[in-house]
Amino acid sequence: MQTIYKSNFSIFIIVLITFLCCQLSFQHEVKAQGQDPSMASLSGEELFIENRCVRCHTIGRGKFVGPDLANVNNKYTEEEIIKWIENPQQIYQSSGKMPFNEGYPPMPPMNVPPAQAQAIKDYILSVDIPEGSSKTGSISGQVLNKTSEGPAPGVELTLTSYMGDRPTDEKTIKSDDQGNFSFDNLNWDRSYQIAINFKGAQYATDKMVFFPNEETKILNLPIFEPTVEEDDISVVESHMIVQAGDGVLSVADLTLFDNSGDKIYVGGKELNDGRKESLRFNTPKGAQSLNFIHGINPDDIVQTAYGFADTTSIMPGQKRVVYTYDLPLSSGSTKFDKTIDYPTSSFLLLISDLERTAEVKGLTGGESVQIQGESFLKWTATDLEPGQQIKVELKTPIAKIEYIKWGAILLLLLIVIVGVVYSLVSNNKTIANNQFEEDRVEDLKEKRIELLKEIASLDDSFEAGQIDEQKYRNIREMKKEEVKKVTRRL
Ligand code: HEC
Repeated sequence: MQTIYKSNFSIFIIVLITFLCCQLSFQHEVKAQGQDPSMASLSGEELFIENRCVRCHTIGRGKFVGPDLANVNNKYTEEEIIKWIENPQQIYQSSGKMPFNEGYPPMPPMNVPPAQAQAIKDYILSVDIPEGSSKTGSISGQVLNKTSEGPAPGVELTLTSYMGDRPTDEKTIKSDDQGNFSFDNLNWDRSYQIAINFKGAQYATDKMVFFPNEETKILNLPIFEPTVEEDDISVVESHMIVQAGDGVLSVADLTLFDNSGDKIYVGGKELNDGRKESLRFNTPKGAQSLNFIHGINPDDIVQTAYGFADTTSIMPGQKRVVYTYDLPLSSGSTKFDKTIDYPTSSFLLLISDLERTAEVKGLTGGESVQIQGESFLKWTATDLEPGQQIKVELKTPIAKIEYIKWGAILLLLLIVIVGVVYSLVSNNKTIANNQFEEDRVEDLKEKRIELLKEIASLDDSFEAGQIDEQKYRNIREMKKEEVKKVTRRL
């Protein structure tokens, strides 16, 4: 499944979905945003992490992808250091040498704004470099069984080390009687990922790097007893947004799943390739150009007669999935059906405003609504049962809608998946701490670091070509907004 999925879908639609999910928080957000529109409140160290310097440099821990930055002021003036940070091209131009240091590749432009460059420079120069400090760090913590609410002894953990994207080493250990584990003697100049396979369910952390001054990482890794019964899986809300393009209808589907049990759902039915079907996604006949926007990885899906299936295990709590696809649009009448897969509390269908008519069976409504200055026809339903069908017939081509302005898009994007996290670690932390944890400073700081790490691993995915640039920029923007939000609460 290495296909790159493309769609004609406009970013507008994705934004729109988000908007619908978060109308309330949107207003809140806009207000809050006006109060503090910059990243200036991040410390130099945080900016050093946020701007990805940590992926290539240590300060006093030896060479990495780039030179060790310890005592870099013996080599350059402060202005020159700032030039390196803002745009190394300036150094290359004035020195006529690229790369400047022998044995290294050139440093890519990092596009750091001047105020941040200043703060990063101050930070680099301020770091205390203890003589003979340890050369390695450790990652330790506890594996917790969230179903039995206790430590999980004897669980196998595999740590993979990476140099860039290339795995360099693998180590497997077992958690002790108390569920504790520790990976020691880990070099700074690698990134690390821990994976657990527990009773058929797979868990994996994000890739982690050691931050300057960080010697130990402490993680709690929650796991769950598995279940093959899907009784606890339901859909809290399902949104379907339809827009016309050139000869195609572009459909965006956003579903918020809920696993209300205390076990991880590992899937019941075995699919052709031996993997287990964990979530079913019914798509209308003729659906093509599937594009997975959020919550689902193309490598984990299997095409099925009804559409496609996810094969990843579903942890207790909520999971948001966003994907898009295209349907052929004929000039006369275009029909399609959507079949409900799971008990669905709330369903919303929006169709970009038509020149004439759209007929929808299985939902009520049809009135015209304005969303961000665009016209849509809207249908809804509550408490739909699996197997129920929604039938849509479009009688004329749909008028094309203009994309909304970029500024508005960014504002909307920043709430896209607020609270929805990518990694196992933060995901479960959310569950454990029950959504919005109390405003304890330590928690917020941790959350902030967590977000910065997510940004870093997003950067990795982008650099590895796993997500396209537009999506990357949007998600990154949104995560940065989250960071700002957390910072404001500190
Ligand atoms: C993708 C890896 C990468 C990233 C990310 C990166 N750098 Fe670099 N950096 C390098 C490399 C490689 C060199 C050496 C380049 C050369 O000699 O031409 C370098 C050189 C430098 C130098 C000069 C060091 C010396 O001894 O000559 C400074 C200062 C520096 N980087 C700071 C930063 C800061 C601050 C950031 C974050 C904003 C950053 N770098 C991000 C790879 C990176």
